[in-house]
Amino acid sequence: MPQPFPHRHLLGIEGLSAPDILAILDEAEPWAAFNRGARKADGRLAGLTQINAFFENSTRTLFSFEIAGKRLGAQVSNFHPAASSVRKGESLTDTALTLNAMRPDILVIRHEADGAAADVAALMDCPVINAGDGAGEHPTQALLDALTIRRRLGRIDGLKIAICGDVRHSRVAASNMRSLPLLGAELRLVGPPALLPDHPQQPVFTDMAEGISGCDVVMMLRIQHERMGEQLEMEDYHDSYGLTHAKLDKYAPNAIVMHPGPMNRGVEIDGALADDSARSAILDQVELGVAVRMACLDLLTRARRG
Ligand code: CP
Repeated sequence: MPQPFPHRHLLGIEGLSAPDILAILDEAEPWAAFNRGARKADGRLAGLTQINAFFENSTRTLFSFEIAGKRLGAQVSNFHPAASSVRKGESLTDTALTLNAMRPDILVIRHEADGAAADVAALMDCPVINAGDGAGEHPTQALLDALTIRRRLGRIDGLKIAICGDVRHSRVAASNMRSLPLLGAELRLVGPPALLPDHPQQPVFTDMAEGISGCDVVMMLRIQHERMGEQLEMEDYHDSYGLTHAKLDKYAPNAIVMHPGPMNRGVEIDGALADDSARSAILDQVELGVAVRMACLDLLTRARRG
Protein backbone atom coordinates (compact mmCIF):
# COMPACT_ATOMS: atom_id res chain seq x y z
CA MET A 1 0.00 0.00 0.00
CA PRO A 2 1.68 3.30 -1.05
CA GLN A 3 2.34 5.54 1.95
CA PRO A 4 1.68 9.32 1.94
CA PHE A 5 4.78 11.47 2.30
CA PRO A 6 4.64 13.35 5.61
CA HIS A 7 5.56 16.73 4.04
CA ARG A 8 3.47 18.95 1.78
CA HIS A 9 6.46 20.42 -0.06
CA LEU A 10 10.08 19.48 -0.72
CA LEU A 11 11.89 22.74 -0.05
CA GLY A 12 15.12 21.41 1.40
CA ILE A 13 16.80 18.54 3.18
CA GLU A 14 16.38 20.69 6.28
CA GLY A 15 13.24 19.42 7.95
CA LEU A 16 13.56 15.89 6.57
CA SER A 17 14.44 12.96 8.80
CA ALA A 18 16.70 10.06 7.88
CA PRO A 19 13.60 7.83 7.41
CA ASP A 20 12.08 10.49 5.09
CA ILE A 21 15.23 10.47 2.96
CA LEU A 22 15.48 6.68 2.92
CA ALA A 23 11.80 6.47 1.94
CA ILE A 24 12.48 8.64 -1.13
CA LEU A 25 15.56 6.59 -2.06
CA ASP A 26 13.59 3.36 -1.69
CA GLU A 27 10.78 4.76 -3.84
CA ALA A 28 13.34 5.77 -6.48
CA GLU A 29 14.94 2.32 -6.76
CA PRO A 30 12.18 0.73 -8.88
CA TRP A 31 12.08 3.82 -11.12
CA ALA A 32 15.79 3.36 -11.83
CA ALA A 33 15.02 -0.11 -13.22
CA PHE A 34 11.87 1.14 -14.98
CA ASN A 35 13.86 3.87 -16.74
CA ARG A 36 16.12 1.21 -18.28
CA GLY A 37 13.09 -0.54 -19.80
CA ALA A 38 12.00 -0.29 -23.41
CA ARG A 39 8.65 1.36 -22.64
CA LYS A 40 8.80 4.15 -20.08
CA ALA A 41 5.19 5.08 -19.49
CA ASP A 42 3.28 4.96 -16.21
CA GLY A 43 -0.06 6.70 -15.88
CA ARG A 44 -0.22 7.47 -12.17
CA LEU A 45 -0.02 11.26 -12.64
CA ALA A 46 -2.50 11.23 -15.57
CA GLY A 47 -4.73 14.28 -15.44
CA LEU A 48 -2.36 16.20 -13.14
CA THR A 49 -0.65 19.40 -14.24
CA GLN A 50 3.03 19.92 -13.44
CA ILE A 51 4.59 23.36 -13.94
CA ASN A 52 8.37 23.70 -14.10
CA ALA A 53 9.31 27.35 -13.45
CA PHE A 54 13.05 27.76 -13.87
CA PHE A 55 14.22 31.34 -13.36
CA GLU A 56 17.85 30.15 -13.62
CA ASN A 57 19.38 28.06 -16.39
CA SER A 58 19.45 24.30 -16.07
CA THR A 59 20.13 21.23 -18.17
CA ARG A 60 20.01 18.28 -15.77
CA THR A 61 17.38 19.40 -13.29
CA LEU A 62 14.88 20.93 -15.71
CA PHE A 63 15.00 18.12 -18.24
CA SER A 64 14.95 15.36 -15.65
CA PHE A 65 11.87 16.90 -13.98
CA GLU A 66 10.21 17.21 -17.38
CA ILE A 67 11.05 13.63 -18.35
CA ALA A 68 10.07 12.36 -14.89
CA GLY A 69 6.66 14.05 -15.04
CA LYS A 70 5.98 12.83 -18.58
CA ARG A 71 6.98 9.25 -17.76
CA LEU A 72 4.45 9.36 -14.91
CA GLY A 73 1.73 10.65 -17.23
CA ALA A 74 1.50 14.26 -15.99
CA GLN A 75 0.74 17.19 -18.27
CA VAL A 76 4.01 19.10 -18.00
CA SER A 77 4.32 22.80 -18.84
CA ASN A 78 7.57 24.71 -18.67
CA PHE A 79 7.36 28.37 -17.68
CA HIS A 80 10.13 30.35 -19.38
CA PRO A 81 10.83 33.61 -17.50
CA ALA A 82 12.69 35.15 -20.44
CA ALA A 83 9.58 34.81 -22.60
CA SER A 84 7.15 35.76 -19.83
CA SER A 85 5.77 38.88 -18.19
CA VAL A 86 8.69 38.72 -15.75
CA ARG A 87 10.41 40.66 -18.53
CA LYS A 88 7.75 43.38 -18.13
CA GLY A 89 8.50 43.69 -14.43
CA GLU A 90 6.03 41.21 -12.94
CA SER A 91 7.16 40.24 -9.45
CA LEU A 92 7.82 36.72 -8.25
CA THR A 93 4.79 36.99 -5.97
CA ASP A 94 2.47 37.99 -8.81
CA THR A 95 3.98 35.33 -11.06
CA ALA A 96 3.34 32.68 -8.39
CA LEU A 97 -0.23 33.87 -7.78
CA THR A 98 -0.86 33.84 -11.52
CA LEU A 99 0.48 30.31 -11.95
CA ASN A 100 -1.49 29.18 -8.89
CA ALA A 101 -4.71 30.49 -10.44
CA MET A 102 -4.17 28.04 -13.32
CA ARG A 103 -4.58 25.22 -10.76
CA PRO A 104 -1.39 23.21 -11.17
CA ASP A 105 -1.08 20.04 -9.11
CA ILE A 106 2.64 20.45 -8.51
CA LEU A 107 5.15 23.25 -9.10
CA VAL A 108 8.89 22.78 -9.52
CA ILE A 109 10.84 26.01 -9.11
CA ARG A 110 14.44 27.14 -9.50
CA HIS A 111 15.30 30.72 -8.62
CA GLU A 112 18.44 32.74 -8.00
CA ALA A 113 17.25 34.06 -4.62
CA ASP A 114 17.79 32.10 -1.39
CA GLY A 115 14.39 31.26 0.09
CA ALA A 116 12.44 31.86 -3.14
CA ALA A 117 10.99 28.34 -3.23
CA ALA A 118 9.69 28.67 0.34
CA ASP A 119 8.24 32.11 -0.42
CA VAL A 120 6.43 30.74 -3.47
CA ALA A 121 5.26 27.62 -1.59
CA ALA A 122 3.52 29.88 0.93
CA LEU A 123 1.38 31.26 -1.94
CA MET A 124 0.53 28.02 -3.71
CA ASP A 125 -2.34 25.59 -3.22
CA CYS A 126 -0.23 22.71 -4.57
CA PRO A 127 3.01 21.02 -3.47
CA VAL A 128 6.22 22.82 -4.43
CA ILE A 129 9.61 21.25 -5.10
CA ASN A 130 12.72 23.37 -4.74
CA ALA A 131 14.95 22.74 -7.76
CA GLY A 132 17.61 25.12 -6.40
CA ASP A 133 17.25 28.48 -4.63
CA GLY A 134 20.31 30.71 -4.76
CA ALA A 135 22.96 29.32 -2.43
CA GLY A 136 20.17 27.86 -0.28
CA GLU A 137 19.34 24.22 -1.06
CA HIS A 138 19.03 21.78 -3.95
CA PRO A 139 17.34 18.86 -2.23
CA THR A 140 16.69 16.58 -5.21
CA GLN A 141 20.39 16.81 -6.13
CA ALA A 142 21.36 15.65 -2.64
CA LEU A 143 18.82 12.81 -2.88
CA LEU A 144 20.14 11.64 -6.23
CA ASP A 145 23.69 11.90 -4.89
CA ALA A 146 22.74 9.70 -1.94
CA LEU A 147 21.10 7.16 -4.25
CA THR A 148 24.16 7.13 -6.50
CA ILE A 149 26.47 6.47 -3.55
CA ARG A 150 24.20 3.77 -2.15
CA ARG A 151 23.97 1.99 -5.49
CA ARG A 152 27.70 2.26 -6.28
CA LEU A 153 29.06 1.42 -2.82
CA GLY A 154 26.18 -0.49 -1.25
CA ARG A 155 25.78 1.85 1.73
CA ILE A 156 26.25 5.41 2.95
CA ASP A 157 26.60 4.79 6.68
CA GLY A 158 30.24 4.93 7.75
CA LEU A 159 31.62 6.24 4.44
CA LYS A 160 34.18 9.04 4.32
CA ILE A 161 33.04 11.66 1.82
CA ALA A 162 34.99 14.75 0.77
CA ILE A 163 33.13 17.70 -0.77
CA CYS A 164 35.75 19.71 -2.65
CA GLY A 165 35.84 23.11 -4.29
CA ASP A 166 33.42 25.99 -3.91
CA VAL A 167 31.58 24.72 -0.86
CA ARG A 168 30.70 28.23 0.31
CA HIS A 169 28.47 29.17 -2.63
CA SER A 170 27.07 25.72 -3.42
CA ARG A 171 23.45 24.81 -2.70
CA VAL A 172 24.36 21.24 -3.65
CA ALA A 173 26.92 21.22 -0.85
CA ALA A 174 24.43 22.84 1.51
CA SER A 175 21.92 20.05 0.92
CA ASN A 176 24.54 17.29 1.01
CA MET A 177 25.96 18.69 4.25
CA ARG A 178 22.52 18.02 5.75
CA SER A 179 21.61 14.70 4.13
CA LEU A 180 24.86 12.72 4.19
CA PRO A 181 25.58 13.06 7.94
CA LEU A 182 21.94 12.14 8.64
CA LEU A 183 22.59 8.93 6.71
CA GLY A 184 25.72 8.20 8.74
CA ALA A 185 28.50 9.48 6.45
CA GLU A 186 31.58 11.27 7.74
CA LEU A 187 32.00 14.50 5.74
CA ARG A 188 35.05 16.64 5.07
CA LEU A 189 35.03 20.00 3.31
CA VAL A 190 38.00 20.77 1.09
CA GLY A 191 38.92 23.98 -0.70
CA PRO A 192 40.73 27.31 -0.52
CA PRO A 193 39.77 29.41 2.53
CA ALA A 194 37.74 31.84 0.38
CA LEU A 195 35.51 28.98 -0.81
CA LEU A 196 34.87 27.29 2.53
CA PRO A 197 31.89 28.16 4.75
CA ASP A 198 32.34 30.69 7.57
CA HIS A 199 30.85 28.37 10.19
CA PRO A 200 31.48 24.81 9.02
CA GLN A 201 29.79 21.96 10.85
CA GLN A 202 32.30 19.47 9.40
CA PRO A 203 36.12 19.28 9.41
CA VAL A 204 37.68 21.59 6.80
CA PHE A 205 40.90 21.08 4.83
CA THR A 206 42.71 23.62 2.70
CA ASP A 207 45.17 20.95 1.58
CA MET A 208 43.42 18.72 -0.96
CA ALA A 209 45.72 15.71 -0.53
CA GLU A 210 45.03 15.71 3.19
CA GLY A 211 41.30 16.32 2.70
CA ILE A 212 40.64 13.48 0.26
CA SER A 213 43.05 11.04 1.87
CA GLY A 214 41.38 7.67 2.46
CA CYS A 215 37.96 8.86 1.28
CA ASP A 216 35.36 6.57 -0.28
CA VAL A 217 33.74 9.38 -2.28
CA VAL A 218 35.26 12.57 -3.65
CA MET A 219 32.54 15.00 -4.69
CA MET A 220 33.81 17.88 -6.82
CA LEU A 221 32.07 21.25 -7.22
CA ARG A 222 32.47 23.94 -9.82
CA ILE A 223 33.30 27.49 -8.80
CA GLN A 224 29.99 29.37 -8.69
CA HIS A 225 31.18 32.63 -10.26
CA GLU A 226 27.59 33.84 -10.55
CA ARG A 227 27.25 33.90 -6.74
CA MET A 228 30.53 35.69 -6.02
CA GLY A 229 30.88 39.40 -5.52
CA GLU A 230 34.63 39.41 -6.04
CA GLN A 231 36.05 36.95 -8.56
CA LEU A 232 38.51 34.35 -7.30
CA GLU A 233 42.09 34.32 -8.57
CA MET A 234 42.00 31.18 -10.76
CA GLU A 235 45.73 30.80 -11.44
CA ASP A 236 47.01 27.51 -9.98
CA TYR A 237 43.46 26.44 -8.98
CA HIS A 238 43.66 23.19 -10.97
CA ASP A 239 47.08 22.35 -9.50
CA SER A 240 45.90 22.94 -5.95
CA TYR A 241 42.25 21.87 -6.05
CA GLY A 242 41.65 20.11 -9.36
CA LEU A 243 41.07 16.35 -9.24
CA THR A 244 43.14 14.12 -11.51
CA HIS A 245 43.74 10.39 -11.83
CA ALA A 246 47.16 10.89 -10.27
CA LYS A 247 45.81 12.63 -7.17
CA LEU A 248 42.98 10.17 -6.76
CA ASP A 249 45.21 7.10 -7.20
CA LYS A 250 47.70 8.45 -4.67
CA TYR A 251 45.39 9.71 -1.92
CA ALA A 252 42.01 8.01 -2.37
CA PRO A 253 42.67 4.94 -4.52
CA ASN A 254 39.30 3.32 -3.81
CA ALA A 255 37.14 6.42 -4.10
CA ILE A 256 34.42 7.08 -6.61
CA VAL A 257 34.22 10.56 -8.10
CA MET A 258 31.06 12.63 -8.27
CA HIS A 259 30.14 16.03 -9.66
CA PRO A 260 26.64 17.56 -9.83
CA GLY A 261 27.46 19.31 -13.09
CA PRO A 262 27.92 21.43 -15.03
CA MET A 263 31.65 20.65 -14.99
CA ASN A 264 34.53 22.86 -15.90
CA ARG A 265 36.98 20.34 -17.34
CA GLY A 266 40.57 21.21 -16.60
CA VAL A 267 39.56 23.43 -13.68
CA GLU A 268 38.04 21.44 -10.78
CA ILE A 269 38.25 18.08 -12.58
CA ASP A 270 40.39 16.55 -15.27
CA GLY A 271 38.34 15.56 -18.33
CA ALA A 272 39.88 12.08 -18.57
CA LEU A 273 38.89 11.33 -14.98
CA ALA A 274 35.36 12.63 -15.49
CA ASP A 275 35.01 10.27 -18.47
CA ASP A 276 36.44 7.22 -16.67
CA SER A 277 33.26 5.34 -15.76
CA ALA A 278 35.19 2.95 -13.49
CA ARG A 279 35.99 5.88 -11.17
CA SER A 280 33.44 8.51 -12.13
CA ALA A 281 29.76 8.21 -11.18
CA ILE A 282 28.85 11.51 -12.85
CA LEU A 283 26.56 10.04 -15.50
CA ASP A 284 25.03 7.68 -12.92
CA GLN A 285 24.05 10.84 -11.03
CA VAL A 286 22.32 12.20 -14.11
CA GLU A 287 20.54 8.91 -14.81
CA LEU A 288 19.38 8.47 -11.21
CA GLY A 289 18.19 12.07 -11.14
CA VAL A 290 15.22 11.04 -13.27
CA ALA A 291 14.35 8.17 -10.90
CA VAL A 292 14.63 10.37 -7.80
CA ARG A 293 12.46 13.08 -9.36
CA MET A 294 9.84 10.50 -10.37
CA ALA A 295 9.78 9.34 -6.73
CA CYS A 296 9.42 12.93 -5.48
CA LEU A 297 6.62 13.78 -7.94
CA ASP A 298 4.78 10.58 -7.06
CA LEU A 299 5.18 10.98 -3.27
CA LEU A 300 4.17 14.65 -3.18
CA THR A 301 1.05 14.17 -5.31
CA ARG A 302 -0.24 11.06 -3.48
CA ALA A 303 -2.48 13.07 -1.15
CA ARG A 304 -4.11 14.81 -4.14
CA ARG A 305 -4.64 11.54 -5.99
CA GLY A 306 -6.42 9.99 -2.99
N1 CP B 1 23.17 19.73 -11.01
C1 CP B 1 22.41 20.70 -11.55
O1 CP B 1 21.61 21.35 -10.86
O2 CP B 1 22.60 20.88 -12.89
P1 CP B 1 21.74 21.88 -13.79
O3 CP B 1 22.09 23.28 -13.36
O4 CP B 1 22.12 21.57 -15.20
O5 CP B 1 20.28 21.62 -13.50
